[in-house]
Amino acid sequence: MKKLEEYVKSIPDFPEKGIIFRDVTSVLQDAEGLHLAIDQMQEKLEGVDFDVVLGPESRGFIFGVPIAYNMHKAFVPVRKKGKLPRATISQTYDLEYGTATIEIHKDAIQPGQKVVIIDDLIATGGTTEAIIKMVEELGGEVVKIVFLMELAGLKGRERLSGYDIDSAIIYE
Ligand code: PRP
Ligand code: ADE
Repeated sequence: MKKLEEYVKSIPDFPEKGIIFRDVTSVLQDAEGLHLAIDQMQEKLEGVDFDVVLGPESRGFIFGVPIAYNMHKAFVPVRKKGKLPRATISQTYDLEYGTATIEIHKDAIQPGQKVVIIDDLIATGGTTEAIIKMVEELGGEVVKIVFLMELAGLKGRERLSGYDIDSAIIYE
């Protein structure tokens, strides 16, 4: 049987020269790859007490919703600027390539709620750091962060020190 990491295709110089793009679509387009990814990410949450999953647009939705559904938890979408219809809070941050502004609804997290963040990949950690700031601004507590893939060389884990982070695949 193929291992999870064998489903990931790595594309050099995409979307810019010097970037090795770890393509999640190559995992998703295989039924076994998709199963392994969800199962191995969900295993990291065994025994974790939490109320809600947050997942950032767009690749965070793919993994956040099935895991929230399987574990009978709520899901809060973290969206790119200008997409959410009600009152929001926002954060702007730098990515491995480019910048972004993300938002969540102000009423999406209640003070004291325990939050899990789920995404396909951590690169610089900028996206996750921005999500943590929004959760904490609303009085929530980030109890665990789970990624399918971690680009360890970009030191996102160090940027997020003090938080409980787990990744199914780590690229050194
Ligand atoms: C990618 C990826 C993570 C983020 C990781 O999303 O899915 O959310 O970048 O980078 P960081 O650790 O440096 O913040 P992107 O913003 O490209 O959006 P997409 O999922 O819509 O492609
Ligand atoms: N998001 C940020 N950096 C990335 C990379 N190297 N591969 C895939 N998605 C990414």
